[in-house]
Amino acid sequence: MLAVFLCLEVDWLTGAQWCSASQVMRGDDRHNGGYCAPPARLPVPALTAILELRKVRKQYGDTVVVNDLDLQVHRGQCFGLLGPNGAGKTTTLRLLLGLTTPAGGSLTLCGEPIPERAPQARMRVGVVPQFDNLDPDFSVIENLRIFGRYFGLSSAVIERRVPALLEFARLENRANAQVRDLSGGMRRRLTVARALINDPDLLIMDEPTTGLDPQARHLIWERLKSLMASGKTILLTTHFMEEAERLCNYLCVIDGGRKIAEGKPHDLIDSQIGCDVVEVYGDELDTLRGSLTPLAERTEMSGETLFCYVREPAPLLAALHGQSGVRYLHRPANLEDVFLKLTGREMRD
Ligand SMILES: Nc1ncnc2c1ncn2[C@@H]1O[C@H](COP(=O)(O)OP(=O)(O)OP(=O)(O)O)[C@@H](O)[C@H]1O
Ligand SMILES: [Mg+2]
Repeated sequence: MLAVFLCLEVDWLTGAQWCSASQVMRGDDRHNGGYCAPPARLPVPALTAILELRKVRKQYGDTVVVNDLDLQVHRGQCFGLLGPNGAGKTTTLRLLLGLTTPAGGSLTLCGEPIPERAPQARMRVGVVPQFDNLDPDFSVIENLRIFGRYFGLSSAVIERRVPALLEFARLENRANAQVRDLSGGMRRRLTVARALINDPDLLIMDEPTTGLDPQARHLIWERLKSLMASGKTILLTTHFMEEAERLCNYLCVIDGGRKIAEGKPHDLIDSQIGCDVVEVYGDELDTLRGSLTPLAERTEMSGETLFCYVREPAPLLAALHGQSGVRYLHRPANLEDVFLKLTGREMRD
């Protein structure tokens, strides 16, 4: 068992993983024994940031991957860190957890200076890494127990929390299954549940729903909303703009390690787009674009779709009506429009 803990120690997540369903999240049954006694939880004063980065910088060789980044996440927020592939999201989370050292700037996590007191801070954090790091040689329930012991929880507390976590992950019927026999989606659900075993103040989730089918994604969204309702703070990265729009009450978009926009989702949509969108599909869009451009604020071609941004959609829709071989969709602007406007439509990496 000790070997397992040592393995966990070198993993990026080491810090903390604990989850719990709502009754577990109340925090009234905290540890009282186990492998290592976790440090006492000091209260983090309300109205202060639960985590903060100031002018944080990280480089690998000559490449700057986090560039003078300032971030503040407040208690109770669901904060979305967005950016294209290679933007520096995972590196930022690793810096926060003290798993890699900054070249400059300062960080605090749960009131602790990072990296100096990262182990203490991580005891109060639940982490879902971008890539699952469950132990494939253990069963579902053993993976939960191991993490509970890592955080110094007593057997009694672990056994009380585990059923709720299995229910959270909808894995009640797979408790004794080997992790290697689970589907990718089941593993992801287990990883999210595991991140709650320590009843964390803060959940840091790197693409929590990547690889999940729509049903499982909706389940996780519902669970995360109930965690937010119980007062938990969440910092997540995602490439699903719908996820960011549904869950997050504050967003920061980074690209090339730099912050390029931040704000509430609907404020960003209003300030960056501020009008409706008509997507047009069909043949000879180049010709059509010429006639539609005067009727739109702006137009943009991406692949086989023409995007028309319109404040007054009626004239443009009238021009499209009856065009043979053309289909179109009129919709409100969304976060994906914002993301693509800010970061471009070209592939990254
Ligand atoms: N250990 C490392 N050594 C060298 N370069 C690294 C290392 N880790 C990350 N990078 C580089 O840092 C940049 C940011 O990577 P990071 O993983 O933080 O991006 P990301 O925003 O999480 O991307 P994705 O959305 O694809 O997960 C990338 O260019 C990546 O290649
Ligand atoms: Mg990443």
